[in-house]
Amino acid sequence: MSDLSNKLTLVTGSTKGIGKAIAEAFIDKNARVVIHGRSRSELESVKESIGAFACVDGDLGSAEGCDSVLEQLAELGPVEVLVNNAGIFGVEEFFNIDDEEWLRYFQVNVMSVVRLCRALMPSMQENNYGRIINVSSEAAIKPLPQMVHYSMTKTSLVSLSRGLAELSKGTRITVNSVLPGPTWTEGVEKYFDGLAAEEGKPSQELIDNYFAEHEPTSLLQRFVDVKEVAHAVVFLALNGAINGSAQRVEGGIIRSI
Ligand SMILES: NC(=O)c1ccc[n+]([C@@H]2O[C@H](COP(=O)([O-])OP(=O)(O)OC[C@H]3O[C@@H](n4cnc5c(N)ncnc54)[C@H](OP(=O)(O)O)[C@@H]3O)[C@@H](O)[C@H]2O)c1
Repeated sequence: MSDLSNKLTLVTGSTKGIGKAIAEAFIDKNARVVIHGRSRSELESVKESIGAFACVDGDLGSAEGCDSVLEQLAELGPVEVLVNNAGIFGVEEFFNIDDEEWLRYFQVNVMSVVRLCRALMPSMQENNYGRIINVSSEAAIKPLPQMVHYSMTKTSLVSLSRGLAELSKGTRITVNSVLPGPTWTEGVEKYFDGLAAEEGKPSQELIDNYFAEHEPTSLLQRFVDVKEVAHAVVFLALNGAINGSAQRVEGGIIRSI
């Protein structure tokens, strides 16, 4: 098992939701955690409240934003653990999604991960140690009709993770993806507001009936807790023998073995 003490760990999109829980879980393992988001004031307050090592800001939806994040990271030293968690999701009718929106999803959810891995993996290779964990989704292997664009980006992440794992052959670097199922976060609260508008029903009614109506195969029949996703990410970071895998944390929604 690998010791995470002192490891410089970047968690993208860690001002709230799953990312914040992941950051806290790594802090519990005494890692030096760098949190990330777009608002400097929000970052400073989260850094203070969870005891993070540092914070970096930037919009990961553009090459310039990724470069700015990388420049800030360069001041802190080589990143040893990279958790690509930042991502966007929302309900949109396929026939109404224009090219610009498709590309926005691809930029934030996929290209940010490509850009950060391309820049940060070489120092992991030089130091012969690294962990990369990409937060994908259950939607990667069960594309959602109300979020076709989002699902496609999450499938891309599973492929990207496996491809990068191939590049780690014979080293002490691992690259894995994590596939959470529906997890209760601020982002999901907004998702339900979108679904409510689309279906013309009150948001609370949709939440109460969500698993029966939308996720009948869920064995959990409740939302995953952010801490449950965070524990899976830390588990992958601790274990040097798991590489190139797609770890589900989806409460058994996917009916395959
Ligand atoms: N919640 C679920 O049910 C679920 C299920 C499967 C997979 N996931 C995946 O898990 C990840 C986190 O989801 P969540 O529910 O915790 O989301 P969330 O509550 O909406 O939080 C998203 C985080 O990503 C950051 N972010 C969003 N767009 C960004 C951008 N353009 N540049 C930089 N940072 C950006 C946000 O930072 P700001 O402070 O700047 O807004 C925030 O910290 C996502 O990749 C999502 O696809 C979630």
